[in-house]
Parts: sequence; structure tokens; C-alpha cells
Amino acid sequence: MDVTSIDALRGRDLLSLQALNREEFQQLLACALELKRGWKDGFRPQPLKHKTLAMIFEKQSLRTRTTFDIAMYQLGGQAILLNQDTIGLGVRESLRDIAHNLDRWVEGIMARTHSHDTLVELAVHATVPVINGLSDLFHPCQLLADHLTLREVFGDVEGLRVAFVGDGNNVCHSHINAAVHTGISLTIACPEGYEPEADVLEPARKKGADITIVRDPKAACRGADVLYTDVWISMGQEQETEKRRRAFSGYTVTPEWFDLLSDRGIFMHDLPAHYGEECSEEAVYHPQSHVFDQAENRLHAQKAVLLQLLGSSE
Ligand code: CP
Ligand code: NVA
Repeated sequence: MDVTSIDALRGRDLLSLQALNREEFQQLLACALELKRGWKDGFRPQPLKHKTLAMIFEKQSLRTRTTFDIAMYQLGGQAILLNQDTIGLGVRESLRDIAHNLDRWVEGIMARTHSHDTLVELAVHATVPVINGLSDLFHPCQLLADHLTLREVFGDVEGLRVAFVGDGNNVCHSHINAAVHTGISLTIACPEGYEPEADVLEPARKKGADITIVRDPKAACRGADVLYTDVWISMGQEQETEKRRRAFSGYTVTPEWFDLLSDRGIFMHDLPAHYGEECSEEAVYHPQSHVFDQAENRLHAQKAVLLQLLGSSE
């Protein structure tokens, strides 16, 4: 199997999808599709043989932790898990010192952080690629997996209508960034005070992305091809739980809402789900739901990211 190498991505960081141009975004998806098909057809190339990825986690994770680990293994390399209580990022040791140590041992760093600035600082000091495994601001790997899923379900996504219902958070911000690269039409339904950040929204609009903000979640769903939601209380926001539950009252997605969608409408969620808040369990396990395809595609999308950023050792 000959996976196309995207020379322009080699050695780069992936802190947000803003850092990619449209062609690079589409090439990463094409590479992910090729790797996924190849793996399912029994191809077992080892392009990352002898390469190591450090995985830093300041927050909990199931999908990101598991899929990066498996991706490195399946590509012939190895991942090493560095939890916050083990390394004390910025507490036991400065970000700069940690970056300079890791630089001497590993070929890449994937980090899940609270502050996005932590990732930026790691990337400033590390010479190896730094990949955002979720920060308070962005979740680029999630949206790569989601767009891989959209390609598989719909083929061409140009003009696809996506309704994002819920908090204008990290996942919503990456939806906005992805809209710049894909030509989808994105409607975000959120309560007042929970809009995406203007610093993310306005540059995307200036680049021509079709993004509308509304208050009524059902209005956003009417005629949409994709209904996407995410938690109301992201990791690190637990102290705002009651305030957020009140603010998002009326935003709980249930399968009845699927009737509002277009004939080909699907439901998506990045997971974990907080049942009874942003959606019901019935929504996630509904035949129109693709949430576990999204979870599966984290593996394939991240294989493409690792291969292109770390570069093949073959
Ligand atoms: N969707 C996602 O990033 O899942 P985890 O938090 O379990 O990694
Ligand atoms: N917005 C969620 C995404 C989890 C994958 C959070 O940050 O907790």
C-alpha cells in the first residue's frame, strides 16, 4: 500500500484546524480513508517503526488515549502515557523543561490540556510535532474523525447542512474551523452567553464559511442533514454545573427531533454523553446515530495525522 505523503505537513504541529489549509485538510482525510481501507484489507505496513509518541493528559479520556495508543502500535511505533499526576506539567517541572526533555526521546507529542496556551508553549519549546488532543479552545482530531465519517455517509459534503446544538465550546470551535475547509453550512443553536468565541467565528466568516447562530435548537434542526451535539459541561467546568443546566434547559436532543431533519438526516456526538442533559440515551443508540462510527474514525484520522506529521521511517 502506498500512502501519499504530504510533504508540507512533515514536522508541523497540529494545534487547531486553522493551521491547515483546505488542501491539507482534505489530504489528511484522503490519507485516513486510504489507511482505513488498507487496514481492513489486511495491509500491515509499519511506517512509524521505532518512533515514539508521548501522550500528555491533564484531563480524562477514553477515545483519545486509546486511539492514539492503538494508532502508534498499528503503524509500528509506540506511545507512552504521561498523566498529569505522573509528570506534574507546569507544577513539578516547567513546560519548557518538559518539552526539552521529551525532544531528546520522542518523535511527537500529543497533549490534552486545560489551557490552549499550554499547548502553544509546549509547541514553542519542542522541536518535534505537538498535536492537540483537546484543549479548552479546540478539538481538531475530533473534527477530522467527524469529517471522515461525513465523507463515508454522504460522499461529497459541499453544501451539507450541519446543526450544532449546544455550547459554543472547543468542539463547536473546531466545527467552525472545519467549515472553512469543507463548504458545509453550519448553524449553531446556543443560549445567550454560550456562543462560540468571536476570535474563532469572525476569521472563519471572513474566509467565507457559512455560519449562522440561532437560539431555537429546533429551528436549527429543520432541514439539516446532520444534528450534532456535545456536553453542556465540559471538563474543567464542573463548578458551573447548575448554572449551565439552567441555561441549556430545552436543548436536550431526543429522537423526536430527528423528524425535523432532512430525509438523509443523521445524529452525531463526539462522546462522552451526559444522558438527560445534551441528549437522551435513545438518541445515541438510534438507527440514525453515527456516534460509534465517529469514535472508530478517531483511530483512522489520527493515524493519518501521525503518519504525515511524524513522517515515515521507511
Ligand atoms: N471524544 C473524545 O475526545 O473522547 P475522550 O474524551 O474519551 O478522549
Ligand atoms: N467539550 C467536551 C469534549 C469532550 C471530548 C469537553 O471538553 O469536555
